[in-house]
Amino acid sequence: MDLLLISLTTIIIAAFMQNLRRRRSNIPPGPPTRFLIGNLHQLKPLWTQSFSEWSHTYGPIISVWLGSQLAVVVSSSDLAKQVLRDKDYQLCNRHRTARMTQNGSDLIWSDYGAHYVKMRKLCTLELFSLKSIECFRLMREMEVSSMVKSVFNDLMTDDQKPVVLRNYLGSVALNIVSRLVIGKTFEPKEGREFKSIVDRETRLPGATKMLDYTIWLKRVSSWFTSDNAFMKHMARKRKWFKRAVMDEVYGGRDQKCFVQSLLELKEKNELTEETVMGLVWNMLTAGADTTAITIEWAMAEMVRCPTVQEKVQHELDSVVGFGRLMSDTDIPKLPYLQCILKEALRLHPPTPLMLPHKASESVQIGGYRVPKGATVYVNVQAIARDPANWSNPDEFRPERFLVEETDVKGQDFRVLPFGSGRRVCPAAQLSLNMMTLALGNLLHCFSWTSSTPREHIDMTEKPGLVCYMKTPLQALASSRLPQELYLLTFH
Ligand code: HEM
Repeated sequence: MDLLLISLTTIIIAAFMQNLRRRRSNIPPGPPTRFLIGNLHQLKPLWTQSFSEWSHTYGPIISVWLGSQLAVVVSSSDLAKQVLRDKDYQLCNRHRTARMTQNGSDLIWSDYGAHYVKMRKLCTLELFSLKSIECFRLMREMEVSSMVKSVFNDLMTDDQKPVVLRNYLGSVALNIVSRLVIGKTFEPKEGREFKSIVDRETRLPGATKMLDYTIWLKRVSSWFTSDNAFMKHMARKRKWFKRAVMDEVYGGRDQKCFVQSLLELKEKNELTEETVMGLVWNMLTAGADTTAITIEWAMAEMVRCPTVQEKVQHELDSVVGFGRLMSDTDIPKLPYLQCILKEALRLHPPTPLMLPHKASESVQIGGYRVPKGATVYVNVQAIARDPANWSNPDEFRPERFLVEETDVKGQDFRVLPFGSGRRVCPAAQLSLNMMTLALGNLLHCFSWTSSTPREHIDMTEKPGLVCYMKTPLQALASSRLPQELYLLTFH
């Protein structure tokens, strides 16, 4: 009872002091907060929606209190430039919300420092360099052609049955990333177990936003929840990792893959086992969903806009022809296809708030103070739909990128699907190649129409750190190329 009383008094005094500090400091404006929970009660499941609405009222830089944690959200390209370029060094730590983030011993959740710089350099050299992208070109083409073949085989069984594109895209993306990282694709059972572990990870106690963000709730919850669920989950993850990744690697493999290089460094005591697992897990989780999601959104736009689809098919026919499948080397000759992907990334960035950054010291952004420890979100979705930057921003119009050469890899602050600055996605070029190849092949090999009236295609977003279509896209496909091309196998 005494303990409870002391804790409650401490919490109330801390909250009072925090409120006082908040009023005195020159932090950005924001919606009124409620005692202890801040703005958590007002947040819609799609955070971007709440952030955009508040930005209309309070301006392009706002304060949002996630319980006791201050989040500063910026929603204009000018402020994004300040965060990701001018004050990048002070704002490039990570806000880690849950225990599942390897405590920063990996790359994605690591704070900016010696460990981070070493890991980033390693990943860039081993995985994302132009040499490595070229080295794995054939592998990507094999995986994409095998996706085309499986869509074709399913059409042969029943060509009136709508294709649920997500099923094919999820597999091709995971296969490409896993072959790159661990040198093999997963057995169906391993793949299912991987997805189930990722899914479980987001729902574990301690991974929930409410508990993470609200210090007093976190304390209270720790009196009641044990570490059991977390320990059990970690044991399951390690077991999967050992079976699906390590046993195979030690079992011998012709082509050297990323995880082998990591293990060599582990043998020399330069990396811990935790870091090896963290890096592999980072790549598998960051790489597969983002690419599959983007292609699904792009295909949804293709089904909604038949004239765009016809135009890109015309381009593909004239460059690739009807006697072979599209390859990576065709990409530079397919400007309209590239514009379609850019436009899909503009309208539907798979991580609409990027990944949260954290201030390592107090800085001034847009005339306001962003205090040390604050979480910083860049609302890249709002920026890419800002009428100040784009004409008819809500329209899917790939032509806009034909008129003006625009970089989407972090140089142009009006469109930042991969972020920018020190923490920019290291796989931007690799994923652009992967996605253009997969999208180009789907559009060259098949014509796509809606199985429902076009205006009924549900373009709603599903809430989450990554932004899926709420309703998986279903479309009718018909083949466009000679039959023998679909049956070619590269394996
Ligand atoms: C459509 C595809 C992709 C998009 C839109 C995307 C987007 C992003 C974004 C927005 C960030 C955070 C940037 C920041 O915090 O400032 C990020 C980080 C990262 N991405 Fe990607 N990504 C994609 C594909 C991939 C792929 C295929 C991989 C790996 C195979 C990957 C690996 C990573 C890693 C390791 C980081 C952390 C970088 C760091 O913290 O230094 N991403 N990505």
